[in-house]
Amino acid sequence: MIRAVIDADRCEGHARCVARAPELFDVDDEGKSFVLTGEIPPELAGAAAAAAQACPERAIFLHND
Ligand code: F3S
Repeated sequence: MIRAVIDADRCEGHARCVARAPELFDVDDEGKSFVLTGEIPPELAGAAAAAAQACPERAIFLHND
């Protein structure tokens, strides 16, 4: 199972993660990204990886449990 974790200390609200994977990420009122789903379905694994790579702050970590 793939999970995404956001490092809130790193996130600066660039929202590139949301642009790449709006099914998986959103940004709250304080400009911090959060994950919309606990388990990333296999068909969205590529989008999750693209979102992580697109983050200029390297704030997104993907864990494959
Ligand atoms: Fe934050 Fe990176 Fe997304 S800075 S809003 S996790 S692109």
